[in-house]
Amino acid sequence: MSEQEIGNGSADFVVVANRLPVDLERGPDGSQRWTASPGGLVSALEPFLRSRKGAWVGWPGVPGVEVDPFSDEGMVLYPVTLTAEDVRDYYEGFSNATLWPLYHDVVERPVFDRGWWESYVKVNRRFAEAAAQVAAGGATVWVQDYQLQLVPSMLRELRPDLRIGFFLHIPFPPVELFMQLPWRAEIVRGLIGADLVGFHRPGGAQNFLWLARTLVGLEPSRGAVGVRSRPGMMQVGNRTVRVGAFPISIDSAGLDSLARSKQVGERAAELRRDLGNPRTVLLGVDRLDYTKGIDLRLQALHELLHEGRVKPEDVTFIQLATPSRERVEHYQRMRSDIEQMVGRINGEFSRVGHPVVHYLHQSVSRTELAAFYSAADVMVVTPLRDGMNLVCKEYVACRHDLGGALVLSEFAGAAAELTSAFLVNPHDLDGVKNALEAAITLDPAEGRRRMRALRRQVLTHDVDRWARSFLEALGTETTS
Ligand code: ADP
Ligand code: F6P
Repeated sequence: MSEQEIGNGSADFVVVANRLPVDLERGPDGSQRWTASPGGLVSALEPFLRSRKGAWVGWPGVPGVEVDPFSDEGMVLYPVTLTAEDVRDYYEGFSNATLWPLYHDVVERPVFDRGWWESYVKVNRRFAEAAAQVAAGGATVWVQDYQLQLVPSMLRELRPDLRIGFFLHIPFPPVELFMQLPWRAEIVRGLIGADLVGFHRPGGAQNFLWLARTLVGLEPSRGAVGVRSRPGMMQVGNRTVRVGAFPISIDSAGLDSLARSKQVGERAAELRRDLGNPRTVLLGVDRLDYTKGIDLRLQALHELLHEGRVKPEDVTFIQLATPSRERVEHYQRMRSDIEQMVGRINGEFSRVGHPVVHYLHQSVSRTELAAFYSAADVMVVTPLRDGMNLVCKEYVACRHDLGGALVLSEFAGAAAELTSAFLVNPHDLDGVKNALEAAITLDPAEGRRRMRALRRQVLTHDVDRWARSFLEALGTETTS
């Protein structure tokens, strides 16, 4: 498909997401370059869409820029412009200070602001119009995530010929929390414009079915018997809307083969050498987000050091933290708390040239990340709530040597699949400390047994399988 054609309704398969898979970065000298966008949605969908040669409609990550559609290794990217006010009200406001905390168990207090809601409606309409323009007759359009929950209905009004799917990448909240939202019925009405609404976990799908019945008066279709892993169904006028659970995953084979490369192996060894070859390397990799529980893993480490259960000369903890949503107040507060804790641990327990905690507030390349995963003895993933969490699956995919141990929060969607991890309740600090200690002192044979089981799951349930199962349920793909 040529770039001229893309704006003219020629794409048979279209992903619509808040962000494009690449962000436009502007240097102080006015130069521009594209970098990989942060977050799990892009990590998961990008390899799939490239193989599909589809179109991706999304925001280029900076306010006020107009960029023409362009091709990027097999995909055609269709940028949607957001003004500085849109970024403030729709993105930082309604998406990330209302919906994000509300959908993550109200870990922080959501802000309900009518002006932000109006902006959310306006920007959702802009994305729906862009998708309507890009999609060919009868095309499949796959709308992604909480920023765009009104797009399915808006798009259906504009283009009833399309097959529309929607997938939520974050948890769908318990009904009692969702009911707090002043615009709860509007959101449900927005979502039921899709032919298939997908969640990570069956519980999310069940909550949504209950809300659709209660807030919009929809009844389950005859024959719908709940939503365990198969979709449930609802009748919306003369349409059937399916609702189901589709746990997302990663490009497992791609990462496995990257981790086996000589370059990654050498870099992993070099990292350990640079750290002074400590007995145990612990690793955290997250967007710097208050849902990820970075503070409580640091607190657990601090207490273990304090109690002498872990010796500072034996351990190094590396925290990679991608900058995220830096203008939102919740994020600013959390960043300063975390940085204070890092300073405190290092102040109390480090030696010259050997900090106990290495904190990198930066993004690293995929190859570098694979080297960090390969070098780490214990991967620490402790979100208070997470839709899935791809980091833990990436770690497992990189451990072809069957080394390493995974400490994983029960409140990450991935915990349902990765049952051979050290599962912890992140609210139970003693439990987290015990799990960290058990992982640090793990018997190697037991470690290999656990890692083998984890890898079996991750390597057989990859992102391609996830996407195909969603598209099959949407009725646009058949099993090959
Ligand atoms: P979320 O979507 O909430 O950010 P996930 O764990 O599902 O959480 O996905 C995060 C993605 O971002 C993963 O693919 C991970 O590899 C990537 N990532 C996180 N931190 C970094 C970092 N510092 N450098 C590079 N990639 C990162
Ligand atoms: O799935 C979580 C998510 O919000 C994705 O929608 C997004 O790709 C990622 O986290 C990063 O967040 P942001 O786009 O706000 O930087």
